[in-house]
Amino acid sequence: MSITTSLPGFRDFYPRELAARSHIFAAWREAARRFGFEEYDGPPLEPLELYTDKSGDEIVRQLYNFEDKGGRAVTLRPEMTPTLARMAGARAGELRKPIRWFSIPQLYRYERTQRGRLREHFQWNVDVVGEEGVAADAEILAVALQSFQLLGLSAQDVVARVSDRRLLEALLLHAGVPADRLMAAYAAIDKLSREEERVIRDRLAKEAGLGAAAIDQIFRIFAHPDFESLTAAYRDVPGVAEELARLGEYFGILGALGFGAWVTFDPRIVRGLAYYTGIVFEVFDRKGELRAVCGGGRYDQLLEQVSGVSLPALGFGMGDVVLRELLADRELLPSGEPAGDYYLVAVGEPERRVVREMATRLRRAGWSAIYSLRAAGVKAQFKDANARGVRRVVVVGPDEVASGQVAVRDMASGAEERVRIESLGEATATAQRR
Ligand code: HAM
Repeated sequence: MSITTSLPGFRDFYPRELAARSHIFAAWREAARRFGFEEYDGPPLEPLELYTDKSGDEIVRQLYNFEDKGGRAVTLRPEMTPTLARMAGARAGELRKPIRWFSIPQLYRYERTQRGRLREHFQWNVDVVGEEGVAADAEILAVALQSFQLLGLSAQDVVARVSDRRLLEALLLHAGVPADRLMAAYAAIDKLSREEERVIRDRLAKEAGLGAAAIDQIFRIFAHPDFESLTAAYRDVPGVAEELARLGEYFGILGALGFGAWVTFDPRIVRGLAYYTGIVFEVFDRKGELRAVCGGGRYDQLLEQVSGVSLPALGFGMGDVVLRELLADRELLPSGEPAGDYYLVAVGEPERRVVREMATRLRRAGWSAIYSLRAAGVKAQFKDANARGVRRVVVVGPDEVASGQVAVRDMASGAEERVRIESLGEATATAQRR
């Protein structure tokens, strides 16, 4: 049997795709560095109970779980947040707070594969643990937006839709939703921008057990076009004024951080995961063609649930799948694999040894250098160098060996430079490297 394809929803990364992935990871790491976040990682396999009860039904239904050979119930990680909560909680006493950490795990969810949703993806996670103030919420969204900026996207390309579960909770209680149905109502509302109103009404009735009057009231909340109109309508509802003031402060800080134009209030954002407790957000492409690129928010009770240590926390996950589509759409992905620095052409058998020595010298000086691994004609070697897009070619024949000098040909311009063999690596100084 021959196998040529990967499992559905799993990707092969050929060099071209890996170059795009590395480009995205580099921007993520750079944004994290600029905001002072440190990188961490955890295991790809975790105990099943880390997710059951905590992450919410949707994600638990999608787990790649099994019993290991020691009889343990385990699962491939579907998200990073419970691992982060476990790790931060376990060393909470000794870690400097607020903890500012990031990671780029590969995650696994048995999803119905569709555009932007696969069964594995890489997800940039950035989280703050140990800070309850709204300045931390603004900082978290700002670092996410910084990464888009580094990748060449602007506020015209993406938008962060923000809400607050505390605000929604006050509004839903006011609409007549019983406290014990809030979670079910959130789960239905989370689907609001993806499914028709009729379907959501049905879910609110069946899954959250709500009556027609409460459902009508809920839809009235979402009919408000903006923050101002919602404020005018509900500011006298108990608990709502404080929530609106907090969100106002949050938008103000994001403005000061230079991201005001990237952010909009949208009470339909509740997030699919169960553990969020405060400000929540999702980032979408402005054209609305793709699934969410990024989602996150505050989860002040998860650390206690997971580790027994009570610490407020917040963060987000940004996936590579949708982001890559967005970058490809805007022609912002690198065009190919990075080209090598040198291709060394041996004219005859005796020069192959010289070429190897030269390659070693170049490599030790930090350049990339390749040569034909088998005896080949000069023409064939040039063709190979061209096809691989190598920047410079050096031909080594008996004359070059005798004179101790070679011509370095720049393949783009055709210009040649004569260089002594023993100073090859140094003569073309690092300044010339790209
Ligand atoms: P999430 O909304 O489930 O949040 O995922 C965050 C992002 O990961 C999504 O917006 C999407 O870009 C990407 N993503 C999720 N599932 C898939 C998939 N099947 N295929 C491709 N991309 C996907 C979380 O996971 C939270 N733990 C994030 C977080 C961190 N909240 C606080 N800290």
